[in-house]
Amino acid sequence: MVSLRSFVLDDASALRRIVSGRTVRFTHGHDMTAEEAAVSVRRFIAHDHEVPRTHWNFAVEQAGEVIGLVKARLAGGTAYLSYLLREDTWGNGYATDAVRKLSRIVFTDGVQRIEAKHHPDNPASGRVLVKAGFVPVREAEPVTVEDGVVLLHPVYELIAP
Ligand SMILES: CC(C)(COP(=O)(O)OP(=O)(O)OC[C@H]1O[C@@H](n2cnc3c(N)ncnc32)[C@H](O)[C@@H]1OP(=O)(O)O)[C@@H](O)C(=O)NCCC(=O)NCCS
Repeated sequence: MVSLRSFVLDDASALRRIVSGRTVRFTHGHDMTAEEAAVSVRRFIAHDHEVPRTHWNFAVEQAGEVIGLVKARLAGGTAYLSYLLREDTWGNGYATDAVRKLSRIVFTDGVQRIEAKHHPDNPASGRVLVKAGFVPVREAEPVTVEDGVVLLHPVYELIAP
């Protein structure tokens, strides 16, 4: 349904559209600026040239258009995965498809374990992980936000087949 490809410099404006509106509510926190988008795309491209690879950053393409971002970062033998889909594309199974595809790539590159977590008020993100085969394993360290509210992010894992 979706395809994953490496970022190119021209993707900055598409990335900016993705990281805006309701999509940033549980993640970036504010609409991405043009400068932030350009810096991010340059960073993603630089990561693609790292040897050995420790970052996977892919543009999620659907019908020839970049509609999302799916990425993973390797630390201590575990790849930490996250994803963002442009708000007007939600509810079509695209995030689940992108997470499945990135997980296959990460495992093919030799990683044995992938971890992901989501904001406790974002059940759609947990549903994406479960549909992609992840299993809940624990809660992350408590995070205190404004007004002393404590958040417990559910953590999921996927082990290499
Ligand atoms: C979370 C997000 C990635 C989902 O993208 P998507 O392409 O709509 O995901 P999918 O269509 O693959 O699957 C969404 C699932 O969540 C379900 N869902 C949607 N809203 C829900 C809600 N409020 N409560 C429970 N489940 C919900 C959908 O029904 C669907 O499950 P189903 O196929 O069993 O019906 C997207 O909404 C997003 O980018 N959100 C903002 C950023 C974010 O939260 N990223 C994740 C941070 S780890």
